[in-house]
Amino acid sequence: MIKEFFPEPDAPNIKKTKTAWAHPIYTYEQMEAVEVAHRQAKNWPDYAAIGTMRVFRWGMDFATGYRHDHSQSTDHALDGKKVQPKTAMTERKWLIRCLFLESVAGVPGMVAGMLRHLHSMRRMKRDNGWIELLIEESYNERMHLLTFMKISEPGPFMRFMVLGAQGVFFNFMFVAYLFSPATCHRFVGYLEEEAVLTYTRLIADIDAGKLPMFQKMVAPDIAVDYWSMPEGHRSMRDMLLYIRADESKHREVNHTLGNLDQKNDPNPYASQYKDESVPHPVKDIEYQKPTGWERKDVIGS
Ligand SMILES: [Fe+2]
Ligand SMILES: [Fe+2]
Repeated sequence: MIKEFFPEPDAPNIKKTKTAWAHPIYTYEQMEAVEVAHRQAKNWPDYAAIGTMRVFRWGMDFATGYRHDHSQSTDHALDGKKVQPKTAMTERKWLIRCLFLESVAGVPGMVAGMLRHLHSMRRMKRDNGWIELLIEESYNERMHLLTFMKISEPGPFMRFMVLGAQGVFFNFMFVAYLFSPATCHRFVGYLEEEAVLTYTRLIADIDAGKLPMFQKMVAPDIAVDYWSMPEGHRSMRDMLLYIRADESKHREVNHTLGNLDQKNDPNPYASQYKDESVPHPVKDIEYQKPTGWERKDVIGS
């Protein structure tokens, strides 16, 4: 299915441009079923992944002035700390946070897809369907970024920070993926756990009436087109439900890929199963496995 959107460039002869990557349709029940979750670390690469994620998270919190509001109730384990009013998240701070987060979120999938693409060519071996999944993930993250760009225009300082962060993060992922792709997928799985938590808190802040501007805001056209948002469900909050659901999918996909044999296993999200009636990895969020699918359950050995 080809989806049309983005009638933007200054090209008088062109009506629309198309993407082959139509977004799967999510239902409201499915999006509301998305939960904050954590996959317990099981071995030392998991601990390395989670430790690295915490360093990145700290850096990003510092750069964007972000603090979780622990007085706000969500289903994540709360540590009971109260945030002083001066550190509370305002609408402006939330937008900076989301823009910055999404500007780097599209890096890992592209690096992983690129490296697997090059590997397949130089070894003259099949890739078994991973490349497209990974690049589609970074496409999805870039759509999140473009959506937030429709709501706020970043200034020169922000653009400079994004440039620096992309340079560092791209090179970090490039080298790390050459050494241990499975650990990199685990690391991204943990990053996405944090993304789900962050968006859950943002939605909770809107529901608590702390962000009156967001409460009234409608989703930009690009979001309505991309997620096929139904009429009557096109608010900023609705849009954040879609984004959070996407992040939960990235969390599941990367934890699953981290469980697989990187060289031999097929992409379980692009596979046909001998018994299709048994729950298995899918591209939408019909079956939600926040901590990923175990290898024995999808590959079967
Ligand atoms: Fe995202
Ligand atoms: Fe994500």
